[in-house]
Amino acid sequence: MILMSKSKFRISPPSGRIWNSERGTFIYNVPMPDKPTTIIQSLRPSSIEEYIGQESAVKTLRIFLDGVNKRGQASEHILFYGPPGIGKTTLSYIIARELKGDLKVTTGATLTKTGDLAAILTNLKDNDVLFIDEIHRMPKAVEEMLYPVMEEYFLDIIIGKGPSARTMRLPIPRITIVGATTKLAMLSGPLRDRFGLLLRLDFYHDEEMASIVKRSAKLLDIALSDDAAYIIAKRSRRTPRIANRILKRAHDVAQSHNVTIIDSKLLTKLFGLLEIDSVGLTDIDVQYLNAIANTFENDPVGVETLSSSLAEDKRTIEEFIEPYLLQIGFIKKTPRGRIVTQTGLKHLKLNKDISSQQDKLIW
Ligand code: ADE
Repeated sequence: MILMSKSKFRISPPSGRIWNSERGTFIYNVPMPDKPTTIIQSLRPSSIEEYIGQESAVKTLRIFLDGVNKRGQASEHILFYGPPGIGKTTLSYIIARELKGDLKVTTGATLTKTGDLAAILTNLKDNDVLFIDEIHRMPKAVEEMLYPVMEEYFLDIIIGKGPSARTMRLPIPRITIVGATTKLAMLSGPLRDRFGLLLRLDFYHDEEMASIVKRSAKLLDIALSDDAAYIIAKRSRRTPRIANRILKRAHDVAQSHNVTIIDSKLLTKLFGLLEIDSVGLTDIDVQYLNAIANTFENDPVGVETLSSSLAEDKRTIEEFIEPYLLQIGFIKKTPRGRIVTQTGLKHLKLNKDISSQQDKLIW
């Protein structure tokens, strides 16, 4: 439910922004444009057929969307869960396209007030998709406001305060909510139950990553040897966005040295410059592993301790550093804290030798 005092807020159609006279500002924004504005965005597949990887989720999604389109009814809401950076936004673009609507993107953390959500919702039209990233970070009041929206396409608004307050039900268009979370367990039961389709996304396999790199190279008209595609794939943390970024940097280096093809030799130089090691670890990953293995002698360490030891934000550790290290089996989470595995320890020792050799290779 949204609480609005008549004097303080004003909905201004057709933009749907809410004017807050106390703050003197409109109180909402949707941060993501609908059209690709960067090269990385333009590399996104625009149809489900072009999408590489996430086989099981994509297969289910294809059947689901076929059903929705055949029935011609509004789609049930969809929830993606899994590690960050592995295609949740990309799939939302594809869903919006398939449903012949536009995509609006927001995140749970920016929806701090019920009014923020109300303003976005009143600005949508039938078939649009509202993508709410990090949906587990939505405040409880905003979450509760979403329930009637998801179930009945109504927004419950309270106008005024005290005895004169009255409720208003605002109909909203037949939209599809696509939620994404890295922390499924942090989603409340009632919210989770309102999604008709739950899809788990996972890190990509090396083969899939190599295919994504080759596809991007083709789209950008970049010559790339086969082994170079696999090397980039191996060092991209199984994340397409990182692979595409590395490909772009490799292209920059190739152009500045008048090299016509990106090959393994050029990549050795590039990864030396970028300080990315053979499995895609950067300086902060190595510092993290060293902190556990050396500073704390590989006794189990809690994330708070690591956060102060590395002077790194806890969420960065939990959401960006650890998922990949867990995935490649370099760390293990025990009830008492994190430890580095034998594979991780072996890599750390190798890494020391490699980095001293790599220093000589940097030009
Ligand atoms: N670019 C980024 N992610 C992709 C994917 N999963 N398939 C194809 N191209 C991509």
